[in-house]
Amino acid sequence: MGVPGAWQASVARGEDAMLQNVVYGIRGMPPLGYCSACTEEDFRVLIRLMTGLPEGGAQAP
Ligand code: HEM
Repeated sequence: MGVPGAWQASVARGEDAMLQNVVYGIRGMPPLGYCSACTEEDFRVLIRLMTGLPEGGAQAP
């Protein structure tokens, strides 16, 4: 969080692609990030918070 540069490659693939990786897991990350109570909207808000993506998933400036 707070280091948008660290997310450049992921942000370039877009919010939907990141959401898919969060839901199914990716490499060291477990499916749903262990949060079985999280909704799709919860994950979208968290992804935006972590990566600095604006609402709607457009690429950050
Ligand atoms: C609600 C909790 C979590 C959220 C919202 C979240 C979100 C994300 C996102 C958005 C990515 C980038 C995916 C992409 O590049 O497309 C990511 C990557 C990653 N996450 Fe999580 N995460 C969560 C919990 C966790 C937990 C609990 C772990 C480990 C126990 C974890 C480990 C990782 C790792 C290792 C990566 C990098 C995968 C790689 O690129 O090699 N995450 N996470």
